[in-house]
Amino acid sequence: MEERITIKTIIEKKAKQEKITMLTAYDFFIAGIIDRSEIDIILVGDSLGMVVLGYDDTLKVTLDDMLYHTRAVSGGVKKCLVVGDMPFLTYHLDKKQALKNAGRFIQEAGAQAVKVEGGVEVAKKVKKIVNAGIPVMGHIGLTPQSIHQLGGYKVQGKDVEKARKLLDDAKALEEAGVFSIVLECIPSELSKVITKEVNIPTIGIGAGPYCDGQVLVTNDLLGLTEKVAKFVKLYAHLGINIEGAIKSFRDEVKDGDFPSESHSYSIEQSVIEQIKKD
Ligand code: KIV
Repeated sequence: MEERITIKTIIEKKAKQEKITMLTAYDFFIAGIIDRSEIDIILVGDSLGMVVLGYDDTLKVTLDDMLYHTRAVSGGVKKCLVVGDMPFLTYHLDKKQALKNAGRFIQEAGAQAVKVEGGVEVAKKVKKIVNAGIPVMGHIGLTPQSIHQLGGYKVQGKDVEKARKLLDDAKALEEAGVFSIVLECIPSELSKVITKEVNIPTIGIGAGPYCDGQVLVTNDLLGLTEKVAKFVKLYAHLGINIEGAIKSFRDEVKDGDFPSESHSYSIEQSVIEQIKKD
């Protein structure tokens, strides 16, 4: 049996200066491909709302949505660490709510860890979850669940006060016991400082090359998303390929070229004659 990646493996990678890789998945099929591709972590992100459910933001994603998709992903994974993203308002009310909902990702959906957005303001809830034995990944910088407060999908931490706040947030999360922190959409030099100042791994998205690891939304890198941020690199253009295949199907059906004999089943002519007589 293949050895499962654990939070210990992830933490050790920082000390060994081995880059950590993380990708999102929302279903069994893509999760299996990612798992076989030797990626370290699969994040069942609440980006689900935008890339799978077609919402404008992540705010409408529910706990039930996340548990359903995390279950599907867990079923396709043998090796990767599976992290379930806690959606908007499922850990904000109080420590009890945070722990109860984090526990559902582990007990009901097969995740090995959860992710929460926010820094100092969520630290006590993080501590409560960690103390119950559930590993937590932090997420600071551009935190999509606060999109209305941030005023849009913009680079964060560009002035002294905001950069210092992000450093304080990272330290508060480390103190609360997270095993890693996602840094989203912040300047490279700032993520370099944060990465140096904390002992746990940082995993960047739009945060430059100095983080201990990198994450992208899989649908973005595969070219399945119509409009992507500057920090996304397209490693494939599957959207165009899929559209081409679907149009070919449409044309062949209309022209009578599909199905051909090779895609059809045959029967003894006598059977047909008999039923015609009946
Ligand atoms: O929801 C998500 O996919 C995320 C990643 C972008 C880090 O939070």
